Amino acid sequence: MALVTLKEILANTRKEQYAVGAFNFSCPEDAEGIVMAGVEKKAPVILQVSMNALKYNGLKALVGYIKGMAESVEIPVCLHLDHATDYDLIRECVREGFTSVMVDASKKPYEENIADSRAIVEYAHSYGVSVEAELGMLGGREENVVVADASAAMTNPEDVPRFVQETGIDALAVAIGTAHGFYKADPKLDFIRLEKILQLTDCPLVLHGGTGVPEEDFRRCVQMGMSKINYGTAIKSVFVGAVAAVTPDEIQKVPGKQDPRNLLKPAKIAVAKHVGEKIDIYGSTGKAW
Ligand code: 13P
Repeated sequence: MALVTLKEILANTRKEQYAVGAFNFSCPEDAEGIVMAGVEKKAPVILQVSMNALKYNGLKALVGYIKGMAESVEIPVCLHLDHATDYDLIRECVREGFTSVMVDASKKPYEENIADSRAIVEYAHSYGVSVEAELGMLGGREENVVVADASAAMTNPEDVPRFVQETGIDALAVAIGTAHGFYKADPKLDFIRLEKILQLTDCPLVLHGGTGVPEEDFRRCVQMGMSKINYGTAIKSVFVGAVAAVTPDEIQKVPGKQDPRNLLKPAKIAVAKHVGEKIDIYGSTGKAW
């Protein structure tokens, strides 16, 4: 089916207590692995791409292949730009066919974060494209966004209602104790903070930094009302780990070893299996419409 917006894909999440997985991809193969998992699980999926991965692929080529993949399957797929700080690039993605964008002005003071996010919302909504913004700051590294642990700041629940109302966003990323990338120790999620935020807004909430979050924490977040769960670093690792090393000698002598597809297909399947397990945990299995 045609790509759907973030607003549409998250519409029933809180009511029905499931979250939609937002999986970061780097190239057509891992994107296809993610879509394969969605099809297998009859689940909606969000394919999200960082600004760096977007440049690696080329904007038009990326939109072309993701649209093609979405239209070849019968599950809802949303194409989302993750953590974007370059506003020209956001506008280009909106015009070129993305169905959702994240404006990340979370490093800026509250008033500026509101003003920047609202400006992007006005632009994106005029094209029917959804917008996610962030309040608070996650530590760690997510491609082009790097935040030292000391600068990380959790979302202040009191800041949420005005932010949501004045920006008009479709989803809000909150900082409740997760971080981007691998953890050195298990993260400690602040569920009390999450509960307060949920009481103060109906806006769908987004958990960033999914890699390494224990299964029971995911389940608790989803049961409480988390709508979107971002998951990236582990997918890259699964993909790279599945691309078996081949020696120059083998490439010359063993039939089939020269064919990139024989390297990439197992990686695609490994991604599909890993993502499928997350879809089950997020409760979105069978939620495709
Ligand atoms: P991880 O890479 O830690 O899974 O985080 C992904 C993310 O939050 C993308 O925005």
